[in-house]
Amino acid sequence: MSRLEIQKSIGLKGKVRISGSKNSVLPILVGSLLTDEGCEVQEIPMLKDVVIMKELLEYVGADINWDQKDAVIKIKTDTIHCKDMTYDLVKKMRASILMLGPLLAREGYAKIFLPGGCAIGTRPIDLHLKGFSALGVEIRQEYGYIEARSKGLVGGKIYLDFPSVGATENLMMAAVLADGETIIENTAVEPEIVDLANFLSQMGAQIHGAGTDTIRIIGVKQLKGVKYKIIPDRIEVGTFMIAAAITNGDIMIENVISKHLNPLIAKLEENNVIVQVMDNKIRVKADAGVHSADIKTLPFPGFPTDMQAPYMSLMSVSDGTSVLIETIFENRFMQVSELVKMGADIKVEGRSAVVKGVKTLTGSNVCATDLRAGIALLLAGLRAEGKTIIDDIYHIDRGYEKVVEKFAKLGARIRRID
Ligand code: UD1
Repeated sequence: MSRLEIQKSIGLKGKVRISGSKNSVLPILVGSLLTDEGCEVQEIPMLKDVVIMKELLEYVGADINWDQKDAVIKIKTDTIHCKDMTYDLVKKMRASILMLGPLLAREGYAKIFLPGGCAIGTRPIDLHLKGFSALGVEIRQEYGYIEARSKGLVGGKIYLDFPSVGATENLMMAAVLADGETIIENTAVEPEIVDLANFLSQMGAQIHGAGTDTIRIIGVKQLKGVKYKIIPDRIEVGTFMIAAAITNGDIMIENVISKHLNPLIAKLEENNVIVQVMDNKIRVKADAGVHSADIKTLPFPGFPTDMQAPYMSLMSVSDGTSVLIETIFENRFMQVSELVKMGADIKVEGRSAVVKGVKTLTGSNVCATDLRAGIALLLAGLRAEGKTIIDDIYHIDRGYEKVVEKFAKLGARIRRID
């Protein structure tokens, strides 16, 4: 199994182009099941998660043509079968659960094993299921499977106890073909929700209020095939912003929607990092020491939980002490033991991590326990003396396109080894 070798790489410099958003492409590909006309989705990132999603969609009968050079997927969905989605199929990716909404809307039936994905918390799906019940779906859970059946979805009123990204997406996809009006309250407002709503609206769905905490959907009889370009990956942007900061570098990040990055931009400015926002680019430059700052992860537009681990790497070499509070997932400090092996001074108490900046990190053998923990180690490795070897990098490949090539082009000493 391949590993990453990283050597200290101060002063990353140059341009990097951001790929399409992982968290947009997954729901949007699933959403194309809602029409039998076929869709074309552009800016598809070459990620393990997209490969897994492709397999899942093909399993239920979609015909997928992925032009990797042009980053385009053409998907034909004229015939869909409701086959059981087994443990082996769904264990690798949490987003598999998003198949439920479109399959229920289109076929009235879906059976799926409880999905896997990153082990960053218990990650229940109760909000998805409660919402489906409000749309008239009958749900049975046994032997690890969710079996969902509907004789025709009907609009309903749904209140989400927490603004879950996945539940908002799943329910939105079910409601667009339901009979009548659906109102979902306390919805997630992440940019990826708006992207999915834009895609569905272009297909002919009637969705109002995406990007606010209440979404109103008037069900339509059918949707049409469309061509759609997904938004850039804001978490990949944030990762390169931190790469510039942690290496005292100067990076021009292209293909960016900067308003999606406001919480991180504000923090980095507080950290004494220079952030220049241009039309669809961001330049990040750091030449002095990085100041410490506290963060608390929150739903958008708060500080994103997906940036907490990368930000921790930066804070571990800051000039003071920072407190990082994780409020979204209960087990999202798995990078800590690995960063400590590299010389970081971090103590975790419940949902808080106290990070005392150290002068030097040192390379070590470490393990990527999940996607964002993995990239946090890569960032720390760029700053650490000597050599860092990261194991289990399949986690990183799930969410970062051409990660070695992109970092190497900026001057990082990084390579895959067996
Ligand atoms: C999505 C993102 C992930 C990001 C997360 C939060 C994708 C593919 N993944 O994950 O990168 O970290 O949003 O921004 O888009 N919850 C429940 N019951 C439910 C659903 C969720 O209790 O039915 C809880 C979860 O356990 C978690 C919190 O709500 O504690 C947020 O989860 P959610 O917003 O659903 O995250 P995902 O959609 O899984």
